[in-house]
Amino acid sequence: MGGELIIRGGRPLNGTVRIPAAKNSILPLLAATLLCDGPVTFEDVPALTDVENSLALLRGVGCGVSSRAGRVRICTPRRALSVLPEGPARAMRSSVFYLAPLLHRAGAVTMPLPGGCRIGARPIDIHLDGLAAMGARVELRGGGLTLKAPPEGLHGVDWKMRLPSVGATETLLMAAVRARGVTVLRGAACEPEIEDLARFLGKCGALICGAGTPTIWVQGVRALSGTSYTPIPDRITASTLAGAVAGCGGRLELENCRPDQMAPMLALLKRAGCQIESRDKGLVIRRQGSLSGGGTVYTGGYPAFATDAAPVAAAAFLRAEGETRFCDRVFENRFSCAEDFARLGADVRREGCCLVIRGVKELRGCALRARDLRGGAALVTAALCAEGESRIFGVEHIRRGYEDIAELYGRLGADIEWAGW
Ligand code: UD1
Repeated sequence: MGGELIIRGGRPLNGTVRIPAAKNSILPLLAATLLCDGPVTFEDVPALTDVENSLALLRGVGCGVSSRAGRVRICTPRRALSVLPEGPARAMRSSVFYLAPLLHRAGAVTMPLPGGCRIGARPIDIHLDGLAAMGARVELRGGGLTLKAPPEGLHGVDWKMRLPSVGATETLLMAAVRARGVTVLRGAACEPEIEDLARFLGKCGALICGAGTPTIWVQGVRALSGTSYTPIPDRITASTLAGAVAGCGGRLELENCRPDQMAPMLALLKRAGCQIESRDKGLVIRRQGSLSGGGTVYTGGYPAFATDAAPVAAAAFLRAEGETRFCDRVFENRFSCAEDFARLGADVRREGCCLVIRGVKELRGCALRARDLRGGAALVTAALCAEGESRIFGVEHIRRGYEDIAELYGRLGADIEWAGW
């Protein structure tokens, strides 16, 4: 997919935005529908390319799928096909979420090794080791992967995760809900999207305790029903918008968002001079004066500062008064946007896993290239803060996680448009 974004920056952002369902919730939730025997409907689903690829995977294994105006309905077949279609499976890392559901629904699964953002090595050993401990046979051949369930199905296990991987916790949760017996996952990740998956599975009849904490207990059940479900709002989209208004100035009201799930981001912006008012299901963020440096920010597993929010937060601080340092130990290449920040005139340098920013008075628009999803969104923020015109290439990365970023910021007063489609 080609195309580019053209942004003439320097305008404040003002208005109201309704935050859609979280990408990182809806992707595992779509895969989890293969565990259910009845139809499943999701509401509030954004039109992202990762969602389109997920629907293509579901269709490819035999599901009936309909999608209209944010409502997605999935009907699973009695017996699904076990081979994931190559194109969409390669296009995103989230194809790994189909391993556990297809082991139950088809008894086996074959897929290419998953793709996704190039922000680090991102192996899937924890997913595979956990599934193997539950009885799956794992074969790695060439660029592909085949897993087979034993004839009697997967069994429960008491298992300690090597590190708290978000995706692997979700994979093993999906495997455990229909495995024979009890599973205990120790050292699990605690992200709200994991709790969301557990809440959905619970609505379908799964027996889960402790999701959102490091120890999760699951009593496997024979069958799960269908249901209708609205996933939690996207805390990274909300953080992106909060970062953008902090960088550009103005006032944004974010509806359908959970301030408690983005507390470290809001604390940083408040410390730096933004006014933030948390509401029951939303927040108002305002930046009128100048932004001061944010000190040192360490990312980590929830409830620490979200790694995905680090680049979009960093973009806000390029013109702050003083120094801000973002240190990310989750992914080796989190700040691929640093060189493009510098091209805009920012004073940034990478020190190991940290990005060190010394605020400058002015950024000047230029040609930029998005290299991953959140780095790409960070370049949009930086270009919105810069004087003059920027062109952003590599926008296919941004479309994986933001429905229509030009329409979104355009509505808030930015001068931004798509070109070359
Ligand atoms: C999920 C999110 C992603 C977010 C990340 C960390 C989704 C769809 N994506 O990604 O947006 O940035 O959590 O919050 O929810 N690791 C291994 N082996 C594995 C799995 C992971 O070594 O089998 C390593 C990774 O390389 C990384 C760390 O564990 O260094 C954390 O990764 P993980 O939590 O698994 O991230 P994802 O689930 O891929």
